[in-house]
Amino acid sequence: MVLTRFLFIGIPILVLNACSTEQVSDSTIVGESNVRVSGKKIYDNNCMACHGTDGKLGAGGALDLSTSKMSTEEISTIIDEGRNGMPPHKHVYKTQEEKDSLVSFVLNLRVR
Ligand code: HEC
Repeated sequence: MVLTRFLFIGIPILVLNACSTEQVSDSTIVGESNVRVSGKKIYDNNCMACHGTDGKLGAGGALDLSTSKMSTEEISTIIDEGRNGMPPHKHVYKTQEEKDSLVSFVLNLRVR
């Protein structure tokens, strides 16, 4: 009797768990694509004027981002602090997530 009870209660719980695991991985995928979109948006609004859509424009002495060898940390620093002709851009992102997304967008401009 106790065993049948377990089966009735236990199986639906297992099924529910399986479903919720799937939902978690789905939303992770959606989350990642949102992150990419917002990095592009921030770039388009704040960086494109000097660096161009593909990073190669070079307006006002801006360096070519498609051939840049900068590390993730260096990109992160130059965004915050600027360097020579590049003004600081700490104001362009609101969260660490937005910044990470911007940095990975910049990394993705490299010639593939
Ligand atoms: C007003 C023009 C201007 C804007 C806007 C601008 N940059 Fe720059 N950027 C420059 C210039 C000029 C340099 C070269 C700085 C130097 O010579 O030290 C540069 C250099 C860089 C570098 C270093 C490349 C390398 O390999 O050394 C990165 C990375 C970069 N910019 C990213 C960005 C990002 C991301 C944004 C937007 C948040 C942005 N820039 C907005 C002008 C700009």
